[in-house]
Formats: sequence, C-alpha cells, structure tokens
Amino acid sequence: MTRIVVLISGRGSNMRAIIEACQNGRLDAEVVAVISNNPDAAGLTFAREQNIKTAVLDHKSFSVRNDFDEQLQALISSFRPDLVAMAGFMRILSKALVNHFLGRMINIHPSLLPLYTGLNTHARVLAAGDTRHGASVHFVTAELDAGPVIAQSEVPVLQNDTEQSLAARVLDTEHELYIQALQHCVSGNARLVNAECYRGTINSNIDTGTSSAERAQNGQQR
Ligand code: GRF
Repeated sequence: MTRIVVLISGRGSNMRAIIEACQNGRLDAEVVAVISNNPDAAGLTFAREQNIKTAVLDHKSFSVRNDFDEQLQALISSFRPDLVAMAGFMRILSKALVNHFLGRMINIHPSLLPLYTGLNTHARVLAAGDTRHGASVHFVTAELDAGPVIAQSEVPVLQNDTEQSLAARVLDTEHELYIQALQHCVSGNARLVNAECYRGTINSNIDTGTSSAERAQNGQQR
C-alpha cells in the first residue's frame, strides 16, 4: 500500500479529502502521518480523530531555517513515505529537502500555474481582470511553485466575485483534483521523468465536476 505523509499548516480541508479518499478506497493509499509546522493547525484535530499519527514541528522554535528543514526531513523520513503531499503547508523548503524527496513530493497551489506563483493568488487574479482561475497539483522542485504540473482544475471568474467567493469556488475543485492527481501518482501514471511530468493516460485538465451548465447558473462570467 502506498504510504502518504501529509504536510499542513492550517485548516486541512485538502488533507481531510485525502484521508477520506484513502478510507473509502478512491485513493489506493494510506495516510501514515500528518505533520504540521503549526501546533494550532485545525486539521490536526481531524487527523487525530481518525487515529492517524500526527507530529508538530514548530518552525518558530528554530532560529536557523536549515535546522528546521533538516529535522523536518528526518521526521518525514521516519514515516517511510512513498509520497509526501503538501496541503496548505506554508513554509518554503530548502533545496536539500526538496531534492531528497524529488519525484515523491507533491503540492497543491491555488492558481493555474505557471500563472500566479506565491501568495494571494485570488486577489491577484481579480486585480488582473482574468476570466479563468483554478488550481494546480504539481511535483515540488527547488523553485517555488514551479515544478511540473500533474493536473489542473479550472473555474470561471464571475463579475461580482470577491476574493472569498473566488477562493471558495477554487477550493471546491481542489479536493477532487488532489485525489485524482495523487491516484495517478500512486498508479505510476504520473511521475517525474527528466524534470518533466510523464503522463500515461491522464488528461492534465481534470474534470472536478463543475459542468458548464452549473457554471452558467453560478452567474455571469466576466
Ligand atoms: C488551498 O487553497 C491550497 O491550494 C493552498 O492552501 C490552501 C489550503 O487549504 N496551498 P486547506 O488547508 O487544505 O483547507
């Protein structure tokens, strides 16, 4: 069984979707641990309720960034993961750590990469007047949010959208996107080969269930 370690910093809704998908068999894997850099991450509660091992490594107790990364690498490794899924993990990781898990570390980012790497993606999409937005699941490489994309979900940007409404519409697609992308990694259908994402039979634009009819109902597009 594929062993997944999930890294979180907060709410953990993607983590929860991954755990539930493992439990109901949609994802052929097991979440062997959830690690947070934030002791107060809400997601830890759900993981504990599911009897999943949790660990906290508080970055604030480290004065040297590299020391945190070294301990994090050791902690992740102690759970012998096949895959490491970052799900709202708000730390930039060292090259050494990323390279150690290269090809096994996956992240979800709320934008249509390569557009809008970094923070505040929803506000930046609105400010730019874009008509499309979405989320990307990608392999983690040393450059921030720049690793090869495994799959993406797309949503329309509506005329009366706020940062919150747009974030919610994107998040609605993220859970299904992450599960499907992870399943492709588990099956070997998606893998990192020569710094690119090899895709067997997957369509990189995963349908997360928002039909065009639903989109029309949601309101007028920009
Ligand atoms: C998601 O929007 C994800 O794309 C981003 O951080 C957010 C985490 O949300 N990386 P959650 O903690 O999974 O609910």
